[in-house]
Amino acid sequence: MVAIVDQETCIGCGACISASPELFEMNEEGKSVPVQETVPENMEEEAQDTAGICPVDAIKVE
Ligand code: F3S
Repeated sequence: MVAIVDQETCIGCGACISASPELFEMNEEGKSVPVQETVPENMEEEAQDTAGICPVDAIKVE
């Protein structure tokens, strides 16, 4: 499973980073990026929950 942040859509609100700092971090452009290429198996549910809180639906977990 991977988490993808659409860089065009992300407005840098930081909600995903507050909710899951192990999964998402801010880049120099003030946008969220996944910390790791693959979501660890034990964090898949958290990744999906966090995708659900993004106000602009920029996160896809698949
Ligand atoms: Fe961006 Fe959504 Fe996170 S706007 S910073 S991907 S909560």
